[in-house]
Amino acid sequence: MQRAFSFWIFMAPMLEQAVATGMPADPMLPVPYRIRRVRRETKDTFTLDLDPADGTRAFSFAPGQFNMLYVFGVGEVPISISGSPGDSPSIRHTTRVVGAVSKAIEALKRGDIIGVRGPFGSHWPLNEASGRDVVIVAGGIGLAPLRSALYEIMAQRDQYGRVTLLYGARTPEDILYRRELERWRGKFDLDCHVTVDRGPSGWRGIVGVVTKLISRAAFDPATAVAMICGPEVMMRFTIMEVHRRGVAADRTYLSMERNMKCAVGFCGRCQYGPVFICKDGPVFRFDRIAGIFGVAEV
Ligand SMILES: Cc1cc2nc3c(=O)[nH]c(=O)nc-3n(C[C@H](O)[C@H](O)[C@H](O)COP(=O)(O)OP(=O)(O)OC[C@H]3O[C@@H](n4cnc5c(N)ncnc54)[C@H](O)[C@@H]3O)c2cc1C
Ligand code: FES
Repeated sequence: MQRAFSFWIFMAPMLEQAVATGMPADPMLPVPYRIRRVRRETKDTFTLDLDPADGTRAFSFAPGQFNMLYVFGVGEVPISISGSPGDSPSIRHTTRVVGAVSKAIEALKRGDIIGVRGPFGSHWPLNEASGRDVVIVAGGIGLAPLRSALYEIMAQRDQYGRVTLLYGARTPEDILYRRELERWRGKFDLDCHVTVDRGPSGWRGIVGVVTKLISRAAFDPATAVAMICGPEVMMRFTIMEVHRRGVAADRTYLSMERNMKCAVGFCGRCQYGPVFICKDGPVFRFDRIAGIFGVAEV
């Protein structure tokens, strides 16, 4: 009895959120979505547009949140929402193939069904960034959750100061959303720079790690908000560099990754020191996790 009562106390905020956002009332129950479109981004990365299989509208979400994608009979993985909140009825995810489940997602085709639970987690600080310069630093697949934030910022462009996107990929073939990046680079109201770790002889762009771009980016460090996502080592050096430029830790945000199971703060699989990445994150204000960030085996 006591246990059942605590369960419902625990679930109440999620049920409230479910009603508010139109997500299913049971956050553990995957909802069938049909694949409307598959787009190959790079040799190991692809984007799926998903529609609710029952023809209803997809739930609303905030940029930075993620869903659990479930391939029936194989398994379930957390994947960020990479589209615009305005994409409804579709919901968009960009996945890089690394293991069993992502490989099974890659094998799905247009018209196939996939299970979706979510949206879960915290989001990028778009309200806090309003009226300020914004510096977005992404590495590799880390551009996926930041693309949602960028869409939202560009849709409300007059609410922000200077907006800078710094993106690093391993090689030119690994650059995500290439056409969009080219379009963004042509815009006067977005300062967009792309670098690669290794450039072949024909590459005329910048070569080097993404952190090198921070020193020449135009933003006011006294007020700017930084949003960072990529491999942990890249985020560590990026944070050091934005702090060196003068951006405060309480205006620096990053998105963390850990393996997950329940995604609702119940199983402890994603525990990161005193926090759960699924529930308290994945987007964290840096000063709140500075003590544990980069510590092995936290
Ligand atoms: C909040 C969140 C959002 C994410 N968003 C995206 C996204 O938008 N696109 C995307 O491609 N991936 C994303 N990921 C990572 C994705 O969940 C993993 O790549 C996926 O779970 C791998 O599952 P798999 O079965 O394919 O591979 P596995 O066989 O489980 O793993 C293959 C290799 O990857 C490592 N690995 C697995 N999961 C993770 C993880 N979460 N963090 C670090 N290493 C891991 C394993 O240790 C192993 O070395 C996100 C993860 C989290 C936590
Ligand atoms: S995945 Fe279960 S607590 Fe986070």
